[in-house]
Amino acid sequence: MISEPTEPVGARSRRGEPLPAELLDDAERMPRQEVEALQLRRLRRTLRHAYDHVELYRGKFDAAGVTPDDCRTLTDLARFPFTTKADLRDTYPFGMFAVPLSEVRRVHASSGTTGRPTVVGYTERDLATWADVVARSIRAAGGRPGHKVHISYGYGLFTGGLGAHYGAERAGCTVIPASGGMTARQVQIIQDFRPEIIMVTPSYMLTLLDEFERQGVDPRSTSLQVGIFGAEPWTEEMRREIEERVDLHAVDIYGLSEVMGPGVAQECVETKDGPHVWEDHFLPEIVDPLSPEVLPDGESGELVLTSLTKEALPVVRYRTRDLTRLLPGTARPAFRRIEKITGRCDDMIILRGVNVFPTQIEEVVLRTPGVAPHFQIQLTRRGRMDHMTVRVEARPDAGPERRADAVRAIAQGVKDGVGISVEVLVVEPESLERSVGKLRRVKDQRGS
Ligand code: DLL
Repeated sequence: MISEPTEPVGARSRRGEPLPAELLDDAERMPRQEVEALQLRRLRRTLRHAYDHVELYRGKFDAAGVTPDDCRTLTDLARFPFTTKADLRDTYPFGMFAVPLSEVRRVHASSGTTGRPTVVGYTERDLATWADVVARSIRAAGGRPGHKVHISYGYGLFTGGLGAHYGAERAGCTVIPASGGMTARQVQIIQDFRPEIIMVTPSYMLTLLDEFERQGVDPRSTSLQVGIFGAEPWTEEMRREIEERVDLHAVDIYGLSEVMGPGVAQECVETKDGPHVWEDHFLPEIVDPLSPEVLPDGESGELVLTSLTKEALPVVRYRTRDLTRLLPGTARPAFRRIEKITGRCDDMIILRGVNVFPTQIEEVVLRTPGVAPHFQIQLTRRGRMDHMTVRVEARPDAGPERRADAVRAIAQGVKDGVGISVEVLVVEPESLERSVGKLRRVKDQRGS
């Protein structure tokens, strides 16, 4: 059953235009039943491919007492073992590739803040599939052939830049491959080249907006109509902040390198109600973050993804660590949606026994008058107690009284909404670190 789209908090009243039916691709038009039949065929092929060509999968399936032939229905997938980031690390760099290296046309790698990076690979067909799903994502966001797409996701080993790039080309758009950094120049280029679409992390979008204002340019006067934001969690409050400041449609793109890169799921501009998972290529499940139990649609937990068409690096039940739930499709009834991701299991801060996500602090900060949307969370230990300090930048026009009001409002908002006491410091404008890509908001100085 397909439920009515729910009204996202703070989304602008003006919604984007739905994609004309003739621009939907074949899979987007399929009845749900057909999608599921396609998924089963592709799933069985993927399991067989993984088992026959990747030692790690063969070992894990054997240990769990399952063979690819045991998958007769989609629910049988629950009998198969999970894959984790540790599996990729343990087989670094190419041990999980299922094709000879000579057939791998490109690799990407995650930055690996701790330990070895994870390396992922793509055959020529994988690259074509990836471009197709990103092109579909751009169309769902409102992009059309002939649009200019300014890409500020980083180019390089990170999948953001090149993933967006080939998808935008495939969508028939003109690409401006800006990458991250050189912010003043990007602002100039946006004014001169007049792109309709920008693809960037939401935190770097804020950096760009500040630069527009520094240069005395009203971002609402630019050519931008759509922003395709992802690679980090962002809230409805952030959507409202960006949409108001730039007068564009802000939509959410989701993905991760282990599964493909950007374009695993995309929010449609006419509903703005969470990303649709492109289920003809990726099969989602939700599991209990602390156990192997699969949860029913609608319940919150950890997103687990299985690739259905990948050749170089098939992934079976990859534990993303991302927290969300599965919802019925709306703008694309063939595919289920995920709720906008509010955090990762690994980002969860446990403060004096209470679970806190940085996005919960973001919600409070962004609805507080007198402060800018730039904040940082610092964790320290005072005696035996954990302590959280939230540093927030004042708006340039906020005097001492408004700043004091903001301190009280944020502390109270966090207390009421999250249930913890935090120290709030309102700091000078432009004094906190700015993002050029993915922002790290939390400085954990508690030691071990
Ligand atoms: O961030 C791929 C990407 C690039 C997605 C550009 C969207 C746009 P990784 O570096 O492997 O890949 O990081 C993946 O980033 O597991 C999530 O925790 C987070 N993430 C990605 N998109 C979103 C999103 C890219 N829309 C990790 N909302 C994922 C929340 C996101 N978190």
